[in-house]
Amino acid sequence: IKKIGVFTSGGDSPGMNAAIRSVVRTCAYMKIECMGIYRGYEGMIEGDFKAMDARSVNNIINKGGTILKSARSLAFRTKEGRQQAYDKLTEAGIDALVVIGGDGSFTGALIFNQEFNFPIIGIPGTIDNDIFGTTYTLGYDTALNTVVEVIDKIRDTASSHNRLFFVEVMGRDVGHIALNAGVGAGAEEILIPEENLGLERLLESLKRSKASGKSSSIVVVAEGDKTGKNVFELKEYVETHLPIYDVRVSVLGHMQRGGSPSCFDRVLASRMGVRAVEALLEGKTNLMVGIQDNKITMTPISKAIKGHTKIDLELMRVSEIMTT
Ligand code: F6P
Repeated sequence: IKKIGVFTSGGDSPGMNAAIRSVVRTCAYMKIECMGIYRGYEGMIEGDFKAMDARSVNNIINKGGTILKSARSLAFRTKEGRQQAYDKLTEAGIDALVVIGGDGSFTGALIFNQEFNFPIIGIPGTIDNDIFGTTYTLGYDTALNTVVEVIDKIRDTASSHNRLFFVEVMGRDVGHIALNAGVGAGAEEILIPEENLGLERLLESLKRSKASGKSSSIVVVAEGDKTGKNVFELKEYVETHLPIYDVRVSVLGHMQRGGSPSCFDRVLASRMGVRAVEALLEGKTNLMVGIQDNKITMTPISKAIKGHTKIDLELMRVSEIMTT
């Protein structure tokens, strides 16, 4: 391996820049070349590359987003698109890739490897934490801290006005953010895709909480929850069935993906970047770097994208006890 290409793909997450920095500097340390690939697979197809040395990643460890930009590429889903990407990489002398992204990005990487036998190592970067083979994905910890900080603020106004707030957080298919930030922020109820507690239970719980003397409540809802109602419909439902509450809705949205990465994410990104480059130099491919029991591990990408949920439902019980 003489020249590694690094790129970010799919939804951005805090810590991606720290991971780019780590990959670039590890290459410099190992005395091999490194190329930044802009806009994910889209830029790969267009040959949008830039040589990167240790100094080109100065002052980015603390920055949210990704300096290499990110995109979701439709063209890369076609055989012609992937052929074009391969041609551009070969032209530029890039002979291995580090992909920083989520399951969509990893799926693309696997197909590319099968077609062209191109060495690839993945680094899991997504706030959703929905990748198997790692306890934490890059950006998840930062997103949790962001969400908890915002819910604390919502709690201030909720309690001043004796209101009930539905707070929608990200998590299309998984409830990691909702569950953990919900417990961390002391939510009354937490609605996640992995467990549908039903609307009846929600009403019961809200009734109980009012009866126990609580004046305000926060319900954290993952965007992919399984009640069949979005936060605005939930508001209506509660207003109709439980008119004792003055209800408001807050959809946190993409602010959860921004901001300076937490120390945890910066350290994790630094460790993962080093391992990713080392693995390529050891001749490994189709593996994803992860962290399990605070050890850096390698998992086949095929397993990482197909793994079962790793959500800790014990936290639901903890949450229930905490809302007594
Ligand atoms: O980063 C993952 C995620 O945050 C999902 O939870 C969410 O549904 C999605 O991204 C939205 O991303 P976009 O607006 O970029 O399509």
